[in-house]
Amino acid sequence: MNQALLAIAILATTVVASLSHNGTGSTGSSDCTVHAWVRAENLAPSYVSHGELRIKVVQAHCADKIASVALRLQLDEFGEVKHLRQDAVIPDIQKANNQTLPDDLMSLGYFRASDLTNEVVYDYGPYDKAMSDPEIWVVHAEERRAWSTEVTLFENNPNFSRPLVKPFIVASPAVNFPPSFNNYRPGSTLDLYQRHVYSDLEYHYIAVVNFTDGRTVDLRAGYTTFSPAFLKPSVTTTPFKWTGTFEEKEGCSKDLPQTRKTLDDRERCLPGDLRSVFVAEVTLEDGNVIQRGNPLKGRVTVRATNGSTKMSGISVSLTNIRTPHWAAERATTGGDPDFNSLLCQWSGISGQGVISVDSFSHVFKTKDEEHSFSFTDNYPSHHGVLTEAKPFMDFELQIPSTAIPDFSSYYSSTETALELSLTVAYSRDAAECIMGADAYKRYIAFEDEPTADDVSRLEDGLWDSYTPVGEQVRSNIWLRTLTLKTTVPIVVLGDISERPAEHYLALGQPSPIILASPADVMFPSAQPVIIEEPLVNTSARLMHSEGTFDPYQSRRNFHNWTRLMAYNEIPDPSAQYNQGNYAGLLWKKKLVAEERGITVTADEGAQHPFVAP
Ligand SMILES: *[C@@H]1O[C@H](CO)[C@@H](O)[C@H](O)[C@H]1NC(C)=O
Ligand SMILES: *[C@@H]1O[C@H](CO)[C@@H](O)[C@H](O)[C@H]1NC(C)=O
Ligand SMILES: *[C@@H]1O[C@H](CO)[C@@H](O)[C@H](O)[C@H]1NC(C)=O
Ligand SMILES: *[C@@H]1O[C@H](CO)[C@@H](O)[C@H](O)[C@H]1NC(C)=O
Ligand SMILES: *[C@@H]1O[C@H](CO)[C@@H](O)[C@H](O)[C@H]1NC(C)=O
Ligand SMILES: *[C@@H]1O[C@H](CO)[C@@H](O)[C@H](O)[C@H]1NC(C)=O
Ligand SMILES: *[C@@H]1O[C@H](CO)[C@@H](O)[C@H](O)[C@H]1NC(C)=O
Repeated sequence: MNQALLAIAILATTVVASLSHNGTGSTGSSDCTVHAWVRAENLAPSYVSHGELRIKVVQAHCADKIASVALRLQLDEFGEVKHLRQDAVIPDIQKANNQTLPDDLMSLGYFRASDLTNEVVYDYGPYDKAMSDPEIWVVHAEERRAWSTEVTLFENNPNFSRPLVKPFIVASPAVNFPPSFNNYRPGSTLDLYQRHVYSDLEYHYIAVVNFTDGRTVDLRAGYTTFSPAFLKPSVTTTPFKWTGTFEEKEGCSKDLPQTRKTLDDRERCLPGDLRSVFVAEVTLEDGNVIQRGNPLKGRVTVRATNGSTKMSGISVSLTNIRTPHWAAERATTGGDPDFNSLLCQWSGISGQGVISVDSFSHVFKTKDEEHSFSFTDNYPSHHGVLTEAKPFMDFELQIPSTAIPDFSSYYSSTETALELSLTVAYSRDAAECIMGADAYKRYIAFEDEPTADDVSRLEDGLWDSYTPVGEQVRSNIWLRTLTLKTTVPIVVLGDISERPAEHYLALGQPSPIILASPADVMFPSAQPVIIEEPLVNTSARLMHSEGTFDPYQSRRNFHNWTRLMAYNEIPDPSAQYNQGNYAGLLWKKKLVAEERGITVTADEGAQHPFVAP
């Protein structure tokens, strides 16, 4: 690891759970730094999860400055939306009066000025400005605290001259709460947003530290997740057969001139109603209800009508569809009926796999496995070539154990689906019409029609200067292709249980409770609290005025380091969600360490540090 990376790693581990506190004493020279960690099993319905809290006080003179420490666990959900106001109109992007191209084109990565001879210069000013106009847009963000539970684990001024560890348990009622996953905000917050949604959720532990002088600080001590469990579904029919038509996904930002021009050129040179129609016939051998960790086997056959496009390749992949039902509801009732259909891929929300120890296999490698490499592929896929002679492909996808089970939470719902992407090629004539003959010839020196014959493709691979030896040649007709998609409904099951569990949003559901030790308890009923983010903060994030849709200016911004650094200054309540240590990972480390006989002994024959005082 190089020095810079090391420094960042150290920074990341210490900053997360540390807060400085001035202890008692009048001199102000007695800062006390406290660290908190939680390791614990995941939560699950009708389950008692075990865990431990570890507290470490850095300065020796602070060992007796802590009166008590409580541990809190809470489920927070976050939702955010930007939608058009009733009857609001976004101004058109007009041709600029000054048609001189900017003189820094080369530094922006436009290598051939000749490609830009027919370029029209537009004035994006009024359009960009409209994106942060509160007369045009409504922004709203809120956090919903679904429940919170707390227990005191250390009291009576314990001696923290060394780190202390205390066990606790979390008892969960027969209720399914949402699984948690690692989210990332689409795009950069510094780009302008039109219609937009985002949501996230986290289960996090907070150590509430009471100092002897009466002051209290909250320390983030780690996050966890919930594993909802489902009844085994009744037997499904096998094989599962499904038929669907491939469609071109409408491009985003259709009101931008650069998008508009591409679409118009394509329609002129390759009229939509003369293109072939492609229909997928899918057979899934073992049905469309699959348990995580199992393979999904099937065949896709594509039937085409005689038209101007020809199938060339197909890929089958697992995808995660998130539906922002809360945002869509607010937008449509708030005067933006087209919100959902105009939402762009990048203004939507994208999740990865669920939070799971399966994503951390590298942490558990033994010395022998040190150099082996493995990672969980959350989105497995299978690619193949299709021709008229062989219009089908057999596939087998391993559904990862981290696949997100279908679940609806307060702000959005998520489901896993099988996405088919069909690449279809059009003629050279159409390509020359779309791109201009010269440009097309420059890009395509040699063109290869794809063949489904593996041996020919392998041989072709030996006759060029870029295909690695022993690999099949890759088709280079991508410059005159379109990608069409269709989605096959499948159901990915989470954990299976014998006992039914209620959905957490059903009325009057109880919530988990944290305890120092097992006891008979009544589960408290969840009392969700919704806190709206101050409008000024939401606006700073979704309505800032620095972004632009101008293609030249966006490139300048992209290279502007000062601007990128400003990204961190934008307030975002969800930025810390699922940051820090995953309690489930630390818990597994404890178990694996015990299995491997790795014990931790204190320096001077003191108590075993794992033992609670
Ligand atoms: C904490 O101590 C520092 C000096 O070490 C002092 O500058 C600061 O004002 C103190 N903060 C509080 C909240 O007392
Ligand atoms: C037109 O734009 C170019 C480059 O953006 C600039 O150098 C020039 O001064 C402008 N001309 C007028 C008349 O504004
Ligand atoms: C706290 O524990 C340390 C080491 O176990 C011991 O040396 C020290 O005297 C203890 N302090 C108090 C106030 O009991
Ligand atoms: C910790 O401090 C808070 C606020 O001062 C207080 O409400 C709470 O009862 C204290 N907890 C313990 C265990 O002393
Ligand atoms: C398919 O279309 C091509 C050209 O558009 C035409 O020459 C051919 O006869 C058509 N074939 C059938 C079966 O319609
Ligand atoms: C870079 O971004 C900063 C902050 O947004 C801005 O003040 C500055 O003018 C930009 N620099 C360039 C070269 O665009
Ligand atoms: C609003 O933003 C300011 C400035 O970033 C921040 O200090 C404050 O904590 C934010 N308020 C809320 C409620 O998030």
